[in-house]
Amino acid sequence: MRILVTGGAGYIGSHTCLELLHGGYDVVVVDNLCNSNPVALERVQALAGKSLTFYQGDVRDLALLRRIFQEQEIDCVIHFAGLKAVGESVSQPWRYYDNNLNTTLALTKVMEEAGRKNLIFSSSATVYTASNTMPLQETSQTGGCTNPYGWTKFMTEQILSGISHADPAWSVCLLRYFNPIGAHESGQIGEDPRGIPNNLMPYITQTAIGRRERLSIFGDDYDTPDGTGVRDYIHVVDLAKGHVAAVNYTVAHQGVEVFNLGTGKGYSVLDMVNTFQQVNQVSVPYQIVARRPGDIATCYADPEKSERMLGWKAEKDLADMCRDAWNWQCKNPQGYQA
Ligand code: NAD
Ligand code: UD1
Repeated sequence: MRILVTGGAGYIGSHTCLELLHGGYDVVVVDNLCNSNPVALERVQALAGKSLTFYQGDVRDLALLRRIFQEQEIDCVIHFAGLKAVGESVSQPWRYYDNNLNTTLALTKVMEEAGRKNLIFSSSATVYTASNTMPLQETSQTGGCTNPYGWTKFMTEQILSGISHADPAWSVCLLRYFNPIGAHESGQIGEDPRGIPNNLMPYITQTAIGRRERLSIFGDDYDTPDGTGVRDYIHVVDLAKGHVAAVNYTVAHQGVEVFNLGTGKGYSVLDMVNTFQQVNQVSVPYQIVARRPGDIATCYADPEKSERMLGWKAEKDLADMCRDAWNWQCKNPQGYQA
């Protein structure tokens, strides 16, 4: 089976390409490298001992997409390509709407033309309304997003659901990721954010290695056991395996289905810092600062539907996530650039 992976050079995409190659799938990647490095794909192929096909270009480019679908017999598409920095989406909304919506519109147009209608989309827990009770189920309320990034995920879910309802030949999986962290256990591929990291784990690893002076913990007065924010952190390799399960589901079914990809467990910021220090025997200096605007106290998944229908369940624990994130950071102190 041949899988087209858009955004396959990125953090989650590269780990998913590796799991697909391990699973015996043929992999075709299209990525414009706007937030990634081609070294990631070289390392994926070295780890797998197999090659993949790489097209460098933009998913909004209809001519490129048509060429790919002419040259390759694509059985299923995993659509990761998108911009993902929440703060940046507030200051550059047009760029986010253009990139994140027009990639999906171009892709589905060319898939329709080619008669290839199996699609998996990278959505996010950010589509859930903040007032939901935990754990979040796929039926929990969505909408009321607080930033353009979140709206692009919400709107893309609407677009793909509409396409799927209009033509039952489509098979669409909307995967709502919780908080992916960690890296492949080899330390060869991992998360390589540009500039100052927005997310917690890369900030922790860059602090531990001395690239940042100290971690700022955004608020210790939330209604949580220790006052710091609680999230459902999931190992990126477990997440990647969730995509392989979703491919098998998508090609065997029709219609649209939504799945949470999370562990079902919530950990606080202090849990993360303490576990990281303990597992890796390294210090992470931190200070408590004001809450970050837009943050909520607690967010974690009910992963029961994914286990029941995809036959997939996260297997790695917080110690694995902390150990693998640190191993990647130590082997690649400056990310792929070094
Ligand atoms: P990433 O930035 O590492 O990967 C995205 C990839 O898409 C990059 O390689 C980038 O170069 C590519 N890309 C972006 N726009 C493109 C375009 N127009 N044409 C071609 N390639 C393009 O991000 P990631 O963390 O791997 O996330 C992958 C997907 O999962 C994104 O859609 C993101 O919004 C979604 N997601 C991520 C998280 C997370 O915490 N990382 C959580 C929820 C959802
Ligand atoms: C963020 C995004 C969300 C996106 C998700 C996955 C925001 C508001 N939300 O979620 O839309 O889907 O990433 O990419 O950006 N924290 C600190 N110090 C830091 C960084 C984070 O204390 O330097 C805390 C946060 O307050 C939060 C937790 O750590 O409680 C996790 O933060 P983060 O990794 O940014 O993920 P989310 O906020 O859950």
